[in-house]
This record gives sequence, structure tokens and C-alpha cells, in this order.
Amino acid sequence: MKILVTGGAGFIGSAVVRLAVSRGHKVVNLDALTYAACLENVASVADSPLYAFEKADIRDPKALAEIFVRHKPDAVMHLAAESHVDRSIDGPGAFIETNVMGTYNMLQAARSFWEAEGRPEGFRFHHISTDEVYGTLGPTGQFTEETPYAPNSPYSASKAGSDHLVRAWHETYGLPVVLTNCSNNYGPYHFPEKLIPVVILNALAGKPLPIYGDGSNVRDWLYVEDHADALLLVLEKGALGRSYNIGGENERSNLELVRTICAILDRLRPAKQPYAEQITFVTDRPGHDARYAIDPTRIREELGWRPSVTVEEGLERTVRWYLENEDWWRPLLERHGVGERLGKA
Ligand SMILES: NC(=O)c1ccc[n+]([C@@H]2O[C@H](COP(=O)([O-])OP(=O)(O)OC[C@H]3O[C@@H](n4cnc5c(N)ncnc54)[C@H](O)[C@@H]3O)[C@@H](O)[C@H]2O)c1
Repeated sequence: MKILVTGGAGFIGSAVVRLAVSRGHKVVNLDALTYAACLENVASVADSPLYAFEKADIRDPKALAEIFVRHKPDAVMHLAAESHVDRSIDGPGAFIETNVMGTYNMLQAARSFWEAEGRPEGFRFHHISTDEVYGTLGPTGQFTEETPYAPNSPYSASKAGSDHLVRAWHETYGLPVVLTNCSNNYGPYHFPEKLIPVVILNALAGKPLPIYGDGSNVRDWLYVEDHADALLLVLEKGALGRSYNIGGENERSNLELVRTICAILDRLRPAKQPYAEQITFVTDRPGHDARYAIDPTRIREELGWRPSVTVEEGLERTVRWYLENEDWWRPLLERHGVGERLGKA
């Protein structure tokens, strides 16, 4: 299959690109190379005859139309997005332009191409979204695919908007779509502005480990390579027009998560003091959702998928990866906004 992957130079998109190429798929990676992108993430496949790169912006409909005609993909996996909640609080406009308008442009380009090709039945437009569209949970319960949307941040609102557009393009124009809503990812190549890499790298640098509020916010952590595996499965086997929630079955509070990372570092790279002594509580993020948890019954029962690693196993792999790949992360610390407290509103 030839898959057009948008956002393939980012964290999750690059895991999808690497996995798809390793499974023998042709991949066209379309990415604007924003501050969050890193072509080193796909260096392991860059010389493969199965791989092509197109530097393009999903806000540019003309560029998208040309790429569809030039590459004639069998499927689209749309991951390109502005993805950092804190940045969405400081500058929501870019999130609306890329996540909402960019998705609209992708849908229109895909639809024109699909119609011009005679509406092939096997074509798929897979939209990759987040569980944050469902808003927040109390101490109990889980998000199912039927949970009403109630996004609380500019980021999650923009992703909710893009989900609605994708559904509508299926209902109105018959575009063959599938959607996935996934919990928090972590793993190798995670950009060093997100919680887990920030904690690992600050710990190593002897800096404070910032935890928003009292650290009680709960997330359901999913190893990025498990996510990529689930995404390819949904692309190939998911029912048309259907949404699938993807979770790690690994709920942890932020404080528990950070303490686990500290304990791994204490073992792998011991310092004079336990790393947990660097934990510092900072002003909470406005609109910070208390808890996310995924009910993965649909993807498990319909497609037979479940995550392959626990959060402890995945974190150990992740910490080892950051210890061994300083050449990857060190230059990224210089990029705009990285290492600063963003999104206090
Ligand atoms: N990270 C998570 O935990 C998580 C969880 C669930 C869903 N998601 C979704 O998965 C997708 C990928 O997330 P990520 O964490 O890999 O993001 P990321 O920020 O690491 O990567 C985003 C990529 O998209 C590209 N991009 C941004 N704007 C673009 C534009 N206008 N045109 C073309 N390319 C553009 C960037 O250059 C970057 O390579 C997003 O849609 C996100 O909403 C992420």
C-alpha cells in the first residue's frame, strides 16, 4: 500500500513512518517542518526506495492537490497538527489554522483526488486524534467512542473540530474515513517540551522537575510504538466511518509517573541525591483536565489489538533511549520556547 503520512517528521508520525516502511509499505511523508519536526526521526528509513519526503504545509491547498496527483496514495494517515496544549493557550490561532483549516484542506484534496480516480473502494482517510476531545473525567469512568465531545483547551477544541469535519466528509461526500482517538503517548523521539522528556532531561541537568498543580492529574499512557501498530491496524481493518479509542491501559497520576522516571534514573544513572528530590510543584495549567482514561473495548474486541508494554517497561526503554541519544535531543533544547514555562494564560 502507498500511504501519504502527514506530520511524519513529528513524534508519532515518525513512528508510523518507520513502522510502515519496515512492513513493506510505500510512504510519502508530508511535513512542513515546524519547530516540532525533526527529520532525524526518520533517518533510519530515509534512504529506502519505499520512502519519499514532501516539504509542504497543510494550510496550502494547492501544494496538497499537487502532492495527491503526483503520488497517487492508496491511503492517507493525517497526523500533522500543532500538538502542544501549553502553546495553544498562548497562541490559539495557529491551532485553528493548522488543525481545523489544515484538516479541511486535507479532506478537500483527498476528496478531489478520490473522485477523480473513480472513488476507489479501498481508499482510506485516517484521521489521528486525541482523547482530549472528550474533556475531563472524575475519579471513575472511562471514555468510550460514544462519550460526548467536551474539549477544554484550544488544542483539544481544534482537534474536536477536525474530527467533526472528517465525520461530515464521510456522511456527506462518502469519503472512506476512519478515526482514532488516543491517550497520551510517550517514547523515543518525543520532543523535549512534553512532560516525560522534560523530566528526564531536567533530572540529568540537575534542574527542577516541574509538576503542574499537585500532580494528581491522571493520564492513560501509551508507548508510541504500540500506538503506531494500532494505527496501521485500524487503517487496514477498521470499519468505514468508525472511530476507535486507543489507550495504554496504564493510568498514572503525573506525580506517580515522575517518581517512576526518577526511580529508573536512580538505577541507570545514579546521582548524589535521589532524582525525586528535584520535584517542584508549579502553578497549574488553566483548564487542566483532571483525568483521562480510555475504554479500549472496541479496538480490542473488533480488531484484536492491545498494548504490548506496561508503562514501567515503556518508561525504562524511553529513559535508556534518552541516555543513549543526546545527539538527538541536545540541539532541540535551543528551539524557540523549549525549556520555558508556557501557557500560564
Ligand atoms: N502526542 C500525543 O500524546 C498525542 C496523543 C493523541 C493524539 N495525538 C495526535 O497525533 C498527531 C501527532 O502528534 P505528535 O505528538 O506526533 O505531534 P508533533 O508536534 O510531534 O508533530 C507534528 C508534526 O506535524 C507537522 N506539522 C505541524 N503543522 C503542520 C502544517 N501546517 N503542515 C504540515 N505539517 C505540519 C510538524 O512539522 C511535526 O512534524 C497530532 O494530530 C496529535 O493531535 C497526539
